[in-house]
Amino acid sequence: MALWGGRFSQAADERFKKFNDSLRFDYRLGEQDIIGSIAWSKALVTVNVLTAQEQNQLELALNELLASVKQDAEQILQSEAEDIHSWVEQKLIEKVGDLGKKLHTGRSRNDQVSTDLRLWCKVEIAYLIETINQLRQSLVNSAEKYQDAVMPGYTHLQRAQPITFAHWCLAYYEMFTRDISRLKSTLDRLDVSPLGSGALAGTAYPIDRKALADLLGFSSATNNSLDAVSDRDYVMELLSDASISMVHLSRFAEDLIIFNSGEVNFIELSDRVTSGSSLMPQKKNPDSLELIRGKVGHVLGALAGSIVTFKGLPLAYNKDMQEDKEPLFNTVDIWHACLEMAILVLDDLKFNYAKALSSAKEGYTNATELADYLVAKGVPFREAHHIVGETVVYAISKQKPLEGLTLAELKTFSDVIDQDVYAILSIDSCLAKRSAKGGVSPNQVKIAIAAAKAQLQSDNILIYK
Ligand code: ARG
Repeated sequence: MALWGGRFSQAADERFKKFNDSLRFDYRLGEQDIIGSIAWSKALVTVNVLTAQEQNQLELALNELLASVKQDAEQILQSEAEDIHSWVEQKLIEKVGDLGKKLHTGRSRNDQVSTDLRLWCKVEIAYLIETINQLRQSLVNSAEKYQDAVMPGYTHLQRAQPITFAHWCLAYYEMFTRDISRLKSTLDRLDVSPLGSGALAGTAYPIDRKALADLLGFSSATNNSLDAVSDRDYVMELLSDASISMVHLSRFAEDLIIFNSGEVNFIELSDRVTSGSSLMPQKKNPDSLELIRGKVGHVLGALAGSIVTFKGLPLAYNKDMQEDKEPLFNTVDIWHACLEMAILVLDDLKFNYAKALSSAKEGYTNATELADYLVAKGVPFREAHHIVGETVVYAISKQKPLEGLTLAELKTFSDVIDQDVYAILSIDSCLAKRSAKGGVSPNQVKIAIAAAKAQLQSDNILIYK
């Protein structure tokens, strides 16, 4: 029977029940609902609704239920209960009889569901931070390994200036570091307990809500009951954090797909994360990366969808809000899976040093160096830029790199050019010169790796788990 049967003389239409019930997805809040219920039973003792002995009995039964849910959460799906809150209450009544019916005193599913979901988000955020940290660790490991892996860096997907694969890895390290800081700040705002807000106007029992919040590990209790039961900012924030991080993951994936293509061939992906073609025996497809790139669509859709769901909703609780969970759960699952896959891909790839280096040499990626050389010899930069442009056109016509031109040929473009230009045009010089903070010089990359390692070490101390 539904929790609200008394007011109704007709049973719900089967089709409505199916449409309305949320157990099929909110069963994932089982542990949180039980933990919240134990805390609530303790609060009910302080307002003389339950005796200490009754509370004890309820707590024992709830703990039994908790252990069984921890062991097999999917058992919940066998039930006809409307939602996870009804399921827990039914199970409790099965265990302790009428006493179980007292637990819902002064509480509503409206404050309960937001409490459960916030508790769930806290656990998941800790878990996500841990996984992102693993990816950051992989990126730092790769940066360390590939410090001398030279490749062209791109703008507009045109070869621009030489970089190293290490520097590329550290770029993604920065993005995922920001993703963690976004998660932490989301966590700060959602770490507030709505329990004791009742259906919308507050609970009619003089419960110490701060003590209740403490009991549940929240840093405080919400200030306003209307807001408490209708606020889902934290869902939208978490979806937004996920969307930004998935955008990072998709750019990571796309870069590697390009680097792995037959034409570019800077890296080779391992057999463990690629698949073959049913028709073309030569193929090794980067499915792992394509799926990361593709799954972003679901997450961005979840963010857009949930913002639209909440737009214009009147205060306080509305059933529309039940629609927050599926996209959130799905998003967190996808985010996790993509992070894991990114780690697997990165840890196993092989860098093709020779090909990447020759590509870095071929694309006139040292043209800026020649311009800077002219500037050092007193040519104004704009003029130097023009001279180098003409030199590049000439070199292309001769199918030679800039450093392949003879001094006599170079001098036809500017007579300030001397023998010392050849050292300047080398890849090593191009890299070494970018030695200001954040640049690609081997020395700066070393500094960045050391800083990242130190940061990771302090970040690995998790507060929430
Ligand atoms: N399943 C509901 C949800 O997820 C729980 C809250 C139900 N509240 C209510 N007044 N019907 O939103």
